[in-house]
Amino acid sequence: MRALFSNMKGFLLLVWLLEVVCVAVAAVNPSLNDDVLGLIVFKADIRDPKGKLASWSEDDESACGAGWVGVKCNPRSNRVVEINLDGFSLSGRIGRGLQRLQFLRKLSLANNNLTGGINSNIARIDSLRVIDLSGNSLSGQVSDDVFRQCGSLRAVSLARNRFSGSIPSALGACSALAAIDLSNNQFSGSVPSGVWSLSALRSLDLSDNLLEGEIPKGVEAMKNLRSVSLARNRLTGNVPGGFGSCSLLRSIDLGDNSFSGSIPGDFKELALCGYLSLRGNAFSGELPEWIGEMRGLETLDLSNNGLTGQVPNSVGNLQSLKMLNFSGNSFGGSLPESMANCTKLLVLDASRNSMSGGLPLWIFKSDLDKVLLSENGASGSKKSPLISLAEVAVQSLQVLDLSHNAFSGEITSAVGGLSSLHVLNLANNSLIGPIPAAIGGAVSLKELVLKKNFLIGKIPMSIENCTLLTTLSLSQNWLSGPIPAAVAKLTNLQTVDLSYNNLTGNLPKQLANLANLLAFNLSHNNLQGELPAGGFFNTISPTSVSGNPSLCGAAVNKSCPAVLPKPIVLNPNTSTDASPGALPQNLGHKRIILSISALIAIGAAAVIVIGVISITVLNLRVRSSTSRDAGALTFSAGDEFSRSPTTDANSGKLVMFSGEPDFSSGAHALLNKDCELGRGGFGAVYQTVLRDGHSVAIKKLTVSSLVKSQEDFEREVKKLGKIRHQNLVELEGYYWTPSLQLLIYEYVSGGSLYKHLHEGSGGNFLSWNERFNVILGTAKALAHLHQSNIIHYNIKSTNVLLDSYGEAKIGDFGLARLLPMLDRYVLSSKIQSALGYMAPEFACKTVKITEKCDVYGFGILVLEIVTGKRPVEYMEDDVVVLCDMVRGALEEGRVEECIDERLEGKFPAEEAIPVMKLGLICTSQVPSNRPDMGEVVNILELIRCPSEGQEELG
Ligand SMILES: *[C@@H]1O[C@H](CO)[C@@H](O)[C@H](O)[C@H]1NC(C)=O
Ligand SMILES: *[C@@H]1O[C@H](CO)[C@@H](O)[C@H](O)[C@H]1NC(C)=O
Ligand SMILES: *[C@@H]1O[C@H](CO)[C@@H](O)[C@H](O)[C@H]1NC(C)=O
Ligand SMILES: *[C@@H]1O[C@H](CO)[C@@H](O)[C@H](O)[C@H]1NC(C)=O
Ligand SMILES: *[C@@H]1O[C@H](CO)[C@@H](O)[C@H](O)[C@H]1NC(C)=O
Repeated sequence: MRALFSNMKGFLLLVWLLEVVCVAVAAVNPSLNDDVLGLIVFKADIRDPKGKLASWSEDDESACGAGWVGVKCNPRSNRVVEINLDGFSLSGRIGRGLQRLQFLRKLSLANNNLTGGINSNIARIDSLRVIDLSGNSLSGQVSDDVFRQCGSLRAVSLARNRFSGSIPSALGACSALAAIDLSNNQFSGSVPSGVWSLSALRSLDLSDNLLEGEIPKGVEAMKNLRSVSLARNRLTGNVPGGFGSCSLLRSIDLGDNSFSGSIPGDFKELALCGYLSLRGNAFSGELPEWIGEMRGLETLDLSNNGLTGQVPNSVGNLQSLKMLNFSGNSFGGSLPESMANCTKLLVLDASRNSMSGGLPLWIFKSDLDKVLLSENGASGSKKSPLISLAEVAVQSLQVLDLSHNAFSGEITSAVGGLSSLHVLNLANNSLIGPIPAAIGGAVSLKELVLKKNFLIGKIPMSIENCTLLTTLSLSQNWLSGPIPAAVAKLTNLQTVDLSYNNLTGNLPKQLANLANLLAFNLSHNNLQGELPAGGFFNTISPTSVSGNPSLCGAAVNKSCPAVLPKPIVLNPNTSTDASPGALPQNLGHKRIILSISALIAIGAAAVIVIGVISITVLNLRVRSSTSRDAGALTFSAGDEFSRSPTTDANSGKLVMFSGEPDFSSGAHALLNKDCELGRGGFGAVYQTVLRDGHSVAIKKLTVSSLVKSQEDFEREVKKLGKIRHQNLVELEGYYWTPSLQLLIYEYVSGGSLYKHLHEGSGGNFLSWNERFNVILGTAKALAHLHQSNIIHYNIKSTNVLLDSYGEAKIGDFGLARLLPMLDRYVLSSKIQSALGYMAPEFACKTVKITEKCDVYGFGILVLEIVTGKRPVEYMEDDVVVLCDMVRGALEEGRVEECIDERLEGKFPAEEAIPVMKLGLICTSQVPSNRPDMGEVVNILELIRCPSEGQEELG
């Protein structure tokens, strides 16, 4: 501090000395050049850290001819006429020296670090035509004196400084001014009225200040005006007519003020105008048809105003248009077809309006770089915008943002043709189906945002082609399967969000190599195993990994088993009443997800009494035998394990009906010999992921001891495997040993109907339409089973699963066929859990059990779906049997009261009541009084027909 102070003092002393010297020299020798004196004094006042002004020497007689940098002279008069010190890194203040330069015409000190105010003496130089002080740190008020004698002044720029206070009104009297640039300061108050009538003015830039007030009438006086920017101030009021008479205007920027009223009508005269921005004001009314007359327009920015109505057809006449932004207004309707004629258009931003209709095809035929149509409201669905892509090759498109709309349909593989695309944002739409593998063709993608849709299936491996990706957001979809190791090849990734999907499997270790990661959210999936170690994952926040009960590692505060391979400890209390696919929603202590290899190991463990089994070895064996025998593969589960020498050669057989069995990779689990599985019902179910990434549900039969011989078992299972219907859960394969049988089913992602009816939270319940579809789908499935001579025996809401489209799929059908005989006792004990669904004939030995028992169960299911109540509800000291209750209500004529109260006002009574009656008929005590399932399907279709127009009620 002291040093600085003494430096300062020294400096001030020097300045003082110099001035004394100058004055003294001038007094002694009046012939000595004033210019040299002035410049030396100027130099003494500033700091020149780079020594740029070293050539300015007080020993020189003249500033001309001696190579003074930045100084230009008039050769005849030998006087300095120009000073150009742009970007010389000068700092300090502009002193008084310059006022001696009486012949100076141009002074440019732009882009330095000068501070302090401007000295009014500068403008005392009568000859000055150009003052450029832009890009410094000058501050304070600019006094009127600065512009008192501005008769010759043509151009003044004080831009990019810190001047404050009002704009000196004397500026408005500088009648020769052609250019004023006061932008990027803190000028406040209103613009001096004289400025608005400077007839020589060609360019006026007052942008980025704090100016207030209105534009006065009379601007037509500025007849030479070519460009005006008032952007980013606080100007208000209507924009008066008059600019339309400034026929040379090429650029008008009134953006980000508080102008209101309509767009001035005389703008239409401005045929040369190429740039018009009214963005960020309060302009209202419609965009006038005459906009099409401003044919020179290349940029039209009307964003963030209150404009309404339709975009007029005449926009199609703007054939030079390159950028059109009308986001953030209240435009309705759709984009006019005529815009196909705007062939030069590169950027179109119509986001945040209330537009409807599909995406016009011309968008994909043009050479557009950017199309932003986000947030146009969810009202009215917009059909499959991306299907149209298929018809055209769009090479140029770089940004496509359709987020927050109601676009539906699938993302077609045409997306692979968008090879220039940098940004694809389809978030918050109603897109369904898988992410097409063709996404790998979009090789320029940097941002891929598909979150909040209804996408299913796996993350395609082909994503590895999108090597430039920095942002990948797929969260809140229904994606399943593993995170492909290919993701780890995308080394530019910074932000990844895969949260809230149903992703499974282990995390690829290589993810730790992603060096640029800033965020990687995998929370709320069903991922398992160890978190990758190293890199970003060492510091990953717990919230980014939460909601994955089977993950372990420091971030989830759960230590991974120390040695590999790790044991999987099975919980002996595993749920008994689970059905395929109903599990993954609730991975509590009762439910465990296992890899298929682990399950096979369970089977093996059952026969190997001593020791532990290495699943990896098992997998290897399976793989090697795969090549030999692709269809049905037999392998022995126990005979070759070094640690279990005492096993016999019990063999297990795995059959996948689709061909090759495909095992989950990376399962290196060990199984403790004393692990025990749960018992009861037909068995427990686990979800697992095959190596090809597709999920399956595995049911371990707990009726092992009752199961028929291998031959019979296989024959029956194969029969069941042949049954295919869109409303039946597909049986994909099985595994057999004498002591363990596994059934491998298609994994149905949406959970059970029971869950949707009785465990749905808050507003998330099935609509009438969804319920009707479930009833119809279930009926069709049962009809199909009965046609194939299969009785389900166990119809209940936990056995009806919903896929990601809400389509019903019945599981667990025909399992009774695997038992040695249709023993009533066995059956009813197995089906006991399905209390309330069981047809009365089960209790009666003399009545033959037919498919009509399924019809009964179906009837109960219908009542359950419509009323939202369980078949039997236990109250405090009462038991309510659903069908009795509904039957009673029907007799008393108040059946409508039984309908699920969550549907109140949202169901068509002409559908709901007949459906309930049908349910009651199906639950007739006498089997022969119940209709066939085929009839039921027909009746249901009849019930639905008359009210098809009521879709929106659902
Ligand atoms: C202005 O000064 C600052 C430090 O005071 C320096 O970082 C900056 O580079 C200077 N700017 C110019 C244009 O010389
Ligand atoms: C359109 O205008 C809005 C608001 O002024 C702005 O945020 C957006 O970036 C603009 N769009 C384009 C493509 O420049
Ligand atoms: C495009 O312009 C041509 C000629 O100017 C006109 O005939 C045609 O109707 C325009 N197309 C549309 C879709 O408006
Ligand atoms: C991925 O890139 C390879 C090599 O460039 C190419 O052959 C393949 O077709 C691409 N995949 C997709 C899905 O486009
Ligand atoms: C996905 O899993 C979540 C929780 O794990 C569950 O709530 C959701 O229903 C599942 N969705 C599908 C379609 O499987």
